[in-house]
Amino acid sequence: YRLWQRYDLLQNKPLVKEYQKALGQLVVQGSSPTLSIIEDELSTGLSGLLGQPFSAAENPEKKNVLLVGTPATSPVLKGLGLEDKLKAVGKDGYLLLSRKAGGKNYTVVAANTEVGALYGSFHLLRLLQTQQRINNLDISSSPKTQHRILNHWDNLDRTVERGYAGFSIWDWHKLPDYIDQRYLDYARANASIGINGTVLTNVNANSLVLSEEYLKKVKALADTFRPYGIKVYLTARFSSPIELGKLKTADPLNPEVKAWWKNKVEEIYRHIPDFGGFLVKANSEGQPGPQNYNRSHADGANMLAEALAPKGGLVMWRAFVYDDKVPDDRHKQAYTEFKPLDGKFLPNVMVQVKNGAIDFQPREPFHPLFGAMPKTPLMMEFQITQEYLGQGTHLAYLAPMFKETLMADTYAKGKGSTVAKVVDGSLDNHYHSGMAGVANIGNDRNWTSHPFGQANWYTFGRLAWDYNLTSEAIADEWIKMTFSGSPTLVSTVKQMMMGSREAVVNYMTPLGLHHLMGWSHHYGPGPWIKDKPRADWTSVYYHRADEKGIGFDRTRTGSNALSQYAPEVQALLQNPATCPEDVLLWFHHLPWDWKMKSGRTLWDELCYKYSEGVDSVRAMQKDWDSLQGQVDKERYQQVKQYLAIQEKDARWWRDACLLYFQTFSKRPIPQALEKPA
Ligand code: GCU
Repeated sequence: YRLWQRYDLLQNKPLVKEYQKALGQLVVQGSSPTLSIIEDELSTGLSGLLGQPFSAAENPEKKNVLLVGTPATSPVLKGLGLEDKLKAVGKDGYLLLSRKAGGKNYTVVAANTEVGALYGSFHLLRLLQTQQRINNLDISSSPKTQHRILNHWDNLDRTVERGYAGFSIWDWHKLPDYIDQRYLDYARANASIGINGTVLTNVNANSLVLSEEYLKKVKALADTFRPYGIKVYLTARFSSPIELGKLKTADPLNPEVKAWWKNKVEEIYRHIPDFGGFLVKANSEGQPGPQNYNRSHADGANMLAEALAPKGGLVMWRAFVYDDKVPDDRHKQAYTEFKPLDGKFLPNVMVQVKNGAIDFQPREPFHPLFGAMPKTPLMMEFQITQEYLGQGTHLAYLAPMFKETLMADTYAKGKGSTVAKVVDGSLDNHYHSGMAGVANIGNDRNWTSHPFGQANWYTFGRLAWDYNLTSEAIADEWIKMTFSGSPTLVSTVKQMMMGSREAVVNYMTPLGLHHLMGWSHHYGPGPWIKDKPRADWTSVYYHRADEKGIGFDRTRTGSNALSQYAPEVQALLQNPATCPEDVLLWFHHLPWDWKMKSGRTLWDELCYKYSEGVDSVRAMQKDWDSLQGQVDKERYQQVKQYLAIQEKDARWWRDACLLYFQTFSKRPIPQALEKPA
């Protein structure tokens, strides 16, 4: 339950002595809800980690002082002359400094805002939890993206779309009068990694949440989260004016519809003066939207944006759209619909784009919209919940996957135009920038079902703050904070985590294969799935295996989805000889005997990859077994059992896929490999 916020006594005695001495006395001047949170967190954290009471004082009395605040809240801090340094870190950033002044030694956590000081306090605690030196601190940190937002796909009846950790943590029935301690711990955890927004409800939205009765409940959550710097957002069902307002239409150009939304927005802001705005899924998978009235996505988004603009609210309009009536590769549809709208959105609209063009697969090339809409701020949408990566039972550390997309080069403005630079707004000078993560949080005791699911929540926040952090560094921090700093434990767990996502790719969808998952549940294998209501909900649509070979031709001879990328990207991918093999079958349909870089045929390579996936899970099992006694029994057993499920599932995937594809390839499984059961 405590996530990475375990403040157990540090075992390194000399270091504890050093920390005790350096930090001396905690001083937080002034009073406000956020300052109280800072005081509580630091005194609980330091008392626990250092094994001696650390209550906060108003004025420095000891020689060594931990001073936390802003120039506005703390006269002592104001006297330290940090104006220039503070200017450079902006609204959410902070400084951690060692300073001598007036005969005292200060460890300073300084920021321009109280929330910035809260972020800095969590950073200081992290330094201690990960046992780093704090003697000569000179750290300044500010976030790369402005809006760092969790997307809960939570329904009002507490079921969670693609949620694998129990029911929704929002107990609508007991709100607004009962504030569960979980909400506070949720806010603490999010603030500790810099998350500053939460969309409470499912993108497949229910307009009821916009009713007066529910807004009172939403207000209670917003009031709870505010001192932690977290804004609340809601999903807006496009047809709400009909369902709630009893209008005959939801046409975005209809004056009555516009007036309805304007009034609704005013009502929301009466309850929640700092309401963040709306996330909208429209004209996708059956959701209503402006196209129902022959209007464009821009017409729909701008109508809501106009209502929100006077209040400072945002519209996050999703680009996850596809329609089986469009007889084209699903990969191309978002780009085809949105690219022509570049420049047509109001300034408070962000278009939220999934990392890849299909749907949160274990590996996807980056979405072609990144780099293609320079006049529109594009928000990244990652999925933290592992819908297609083994859900609540498989260990898959997602940092390498998130980083792979962020560091991919769009070449939109020449070499080095990474997706990250599109998303942080720097490539095209946008004011708004943001990253969203579809949450994996539920009411399970440990929040995320698999204990390692916590690492993915943690990673999302850390990368939204700073995408330059390496996957190794994030894993390192998380392990030390969540388990312990024992060097063998850290290196063993890190090894497990670092290879885990690639293991999933290998036993599910190697070499660029995608969407082979079972119908609708998306958990186990189903490469044979066909004859469903939509072609793009089948697996055969994606792998296209036949007697000749396998893969989706997205080059000029096929769907030409490749044409949606910059010429440099096309040049790399269009030739199967230069196309990276990990996305080969995403872009090419190749013969079973195609020669791979390893010298093997494509068929043999496929067999090897599936086997490698199973072997990697077995290696993780061995690694974990070696840690018996170094991890508390409860988590040790949980992970051990989950790894056993994962090993069984990995074999299931390997056997199902290879036996199915073998009916086309008509080639034997290589001798050296374990035979499918
Ligand atoms: C996937 C997922 C759906 C979800 C959709 C979305 O298709 O399976 O459950 O609603 O993505 O992102 O809107």
